[in-house]
Amino acid sequence: MSTLLWDRYRKHLCVCRDIELALDISRMKFSDDFFDVMNDKISKALADMQSLESGTIANPDENRMVGHYWLRAPKLAPTPELQTAITETLNSIKAFASDVHQGKILAPNGQKYTDLLVIGIGGSALGPQWIASALSSPADKMRVHFLDNTDPEGISDTLEKLAKNHVLETTLVVVISKSGSTPETRNGMISADLFLQSHGLKLANRAVAITGSGSKLDKIAHEEGWVKTFPMWDWVGGRTSELSAVGLLPAALQGINIDDMLAGAAACDIHTRSKKITENPAALMALMWFAATDGKGKKDLVILPYKDKLLLFSRYLQQLIMESLGKALDLDGTAVHQGLTVYGNKGSTDQHAYVQQLRDGIDNFFITFVDVLEYGAAAIEVDKDITPGDYLHGFLQGTRRALTESGRQSMTITVGRVDAKTIGALIALFERTVGLYASMIHINAYHQPGVEAGKKAASNVLALQNKCLELLSDHKPRTIDEIAAALKLEDEIEMIASIMTYLQANHRIQSDVADYYDFSRKFHL
Ligand code: PA5
Repeated sequence: MSTLLWDRYRKHLCVCRDIELALDISRMKFSDDFFDVMNDKISKALADMQSLESGTIANPDENRMVGHYWLRAPKLAPTPELQTAITETLNSIKAFASDVHQGKILAPNGQKYTDLLVIGIGGSALGPQWIASALSSPADKMRVHFLDNTDPEGISDTLEKLAKNHVLETTLVVVISKSGSTPETRNGMISADLFLQSHGLKLANRAVAITGSGSKLDKIAHEEGWVKTFPMWDWVGGRTSELSAVGLLPAALQGINIDDMLAGAAACDIHTRSKKITENPAALMALMWFAATDGKGKKDLVILPYKDKLLLFSRYLQQLIMESLGKALDLDGTAVHQGLTVYGNKGSTDQHAYVQQLRDGIDNFFITFVDVLEYGAAAIEVDKDITPGDYLHGFLQGTRRALTESGRQSMTITVGRVDAKTIGALIALFERTVGLYASMIHINAYHQPGVEAGKKAASNVLALQNKCLELLSDHKPRTIDEIAAALKLEDEIEMIASIMTYLQANHRIQSDVADYYDFSRKFHL
């Protein structure tokens, strides 16, 4: 078994020496003729990617080009105007971050900025959050905080922490929204502004916007004279925007070397453009996704990095992959309900949690281990000649072996260390894998109709809530049935019940009975 595996390992190992990244697919199940059988599909996917990179409309549903690969190789952008826009934006990000660090741009109180509050959600937060934690070090130039939801308690906890640490006055706020009208981000921005005002400060004179030209957020930033605005182009999707201003500005402000991130991505792109499949890690991964799931998402992808700094990698990938591949229709409009389920946290921590099921339970997944070779910290001995890193390595290898022995499939990505270059390379590797796989299963990976529909989901509920409150403004006590009948909205009775319970729990309406599940109770204002 092990000699066989060694042969298979050497035969299929894909090594990208310049970015110190290797992909081992030997523990995946594929037949000897798999690559021949899939040759036409993967060749077409590579050709599709070439055409995408040349500027064709690769996102037909939104009639847009897909240009995130140009962000790390501006010369590839299809027009001189786009090339200039990318280069100038990058230069202005670096200049802005340097001015903030050197105190040429100061907080309104005349002191240097110490903290950064990033407000955004989805593609406008997950990448920056992952990078902020993966590349954080004692040398960070600013502490980074995030508001990525409309949960009042989450917002309040973050803002109160800034006030408690006496850094509110020296906090720079970066609001990120491509559309400029995402409700959660808007609420975070308004909440931050009100909180600042309650401390005698304001948002506008410490705020930076990253948004599409002409968006609501762009207008607010211009009208209120925000410190600076950076562009978000329609040809960069939210989840592939980490190497645009969305990810680069927060990273540069934190003190991360964004040139290294871009260089790592650009170098990985060169490997993943290769038509020689055995030397192209993205093509190999896309093929393995196809092999493992029959091209239909039949198995889940578990991402298991053995490194604390990569904890948020799976969260970032969950969005990149599931928002890109989870589609009802294919490119011809046929219902396909495609997708690939992604989850994971980190090893060896997860070995004390769901890995039990992976080893012994239902075989409905395949794993991608991420192995980081260097410790990244001084080695101490916990036993004679044994370090904590030895245990981490031992757990990873032991788990891989145990899974193989019980017939479970895994791939392993090995990198030298977690640094800006490696992170850039990992982003590029998965972006290209998603693009290639999407082409193989014939779907548009670059739109998100479900997310767009979800953004409007709250508005109907809020309209109904207003109707209920308006009805109760006469102070007459009413039951849920009476409210539904008075509004002639009997079909909405379940929603009305939830709204009433929610308003009661937050003391915005009164009830004669405390029990939330007494459906005969009466409500009044
Ligand atoms: O990837 C995407 O397109 C989405 O996840 C968006 O990033 C997310 O919905 C936030 O949108 P916006 O940047 O417009 O506020």
